[in-house]
Amino acid sequence: MVQASAPGKCILFGEHAVVYGQPAVAVAIDQRMSVELSLSNDWRIDGMSFHPDRHPHVEALKQRLWDLGPALSIKISGNIPPASGLGSSAALSVAASAALRCARGRQMVDDDWAEGWTAARPGSIYDGPWTSSKGDSVVNGADCVDEDECAILAHAVEAYAQGGRASPLDSSACAHGGCIVLSDKIEDNLNWIYTRSLNGVSWHVHSVDLSNIDDVWLVIGSTGIHAPTSEQVQKVANLIKEQPGKMREIETIGIVSRRGIAALMSGDMESVGRAMSENHLLLRSLGVSCPELEVLISAAAPSSLGVKLTGAGGGGCMIALTRNPKMTSEAIELAGGRTLISKLASDGMKIDNDDKAPLWDPYE
Ligand code: MEV
Repeated sequence: MVQASAPGKCILFGEHAVVYGQPAVAVAIDQRMSVELSLSNDWRIDGMSFHPDRHPHVEALKQRLWDLGPALSIKISGNIPPASGLGSSAALSVAASAALRCARGRQMVDDDWAEGWTAARPGSIYDGPWTSSKGDSVVNGADCVDEDECAILAHAVEAYAQGGRASPLDSSACAHGGCIVLSDKIEDNLNWIYTRSLNGVSWHVHSVDLSNIDDVWLVIGSTGIHAPTSEQVQKVANLIKEQPGKMREIETIGIVSRRGIAALMSGDMESVGRAMSENHLLLRSLGVSCPELEVLISAAAPSSLGVKLTGAGGGGCMIALTRNPKMTSEAIELAGGRTLISKLASDGMKIDNDDKAPLWDPYE
């Protein structure tokens, strides 16, 4: 059996605006998705027959990493509610990429990759076929798994599922963990990890060390309303088409995000909270909030440093940055929301079990 897991994410600043190239910040949360693979007589997901159209993310990864491989039984588990803005699909894609790579190994040439996807060697990763060159050795198990590769594959799959409009924010946060900042330029004071481009938009992806920040938590409040990201992204695209002046909101979100990033870097959590609340007002004016989110946000505000919807909106979740997680969580629950508590930046993807790797040797 091979098992991998990846965290969900919360967006602190910049959702929707990031699709148009504005800066944004996401942190990995404590809640995770896990994917377990074992050999089987036929393709199964959670004991049921595998239908590619019901699991498009898994199907897209299977085509890229397991083409012509033997049938697998796939078990998916986790505590990230689906379609809630917490990155459940990106976490699933990252964990599935990691598990599939771990289960097939990687061909090497002179200690370097002979095949695979990496931001360091841009290729046609989003829809085209991948190429491999003949190697001289193979690495198996956890040692052949790479965060960058899982992030790039998860972004490709997310973009496909969102009709071509997807930033790499969710996929990078779920793969690398910690705190991820996307920007339209390489930021001198942040740790640049790679640059991604899709449909004419480029994002420079950075990581930020938040390990010195403690005594503050995220309380996530779920409305229980399922709101597919693709619909909300389309809604904003339609709004901007009908009212081009709304691009001002998108740009102002970018300005607020920059202020939030500076506050995060200096550990000024009061200013981080204020910027989050301001970001929410701009999202509301883009039409992606809803009455249920507003109720939870009003309930959490008095005990929090900042409150906003997180992710695509239209339902899904809100987040509160707070020094009193118990009080904030009780206020949200009293208002009808279900809560999760997370520290600010959790670990990224992990191989949890590679005892039986490889499950397939495509390099024989
Ligand atoms: C979804 O978690 C975040 C959005 O900005 C979409 C994206 O970045 O691809 C709404």
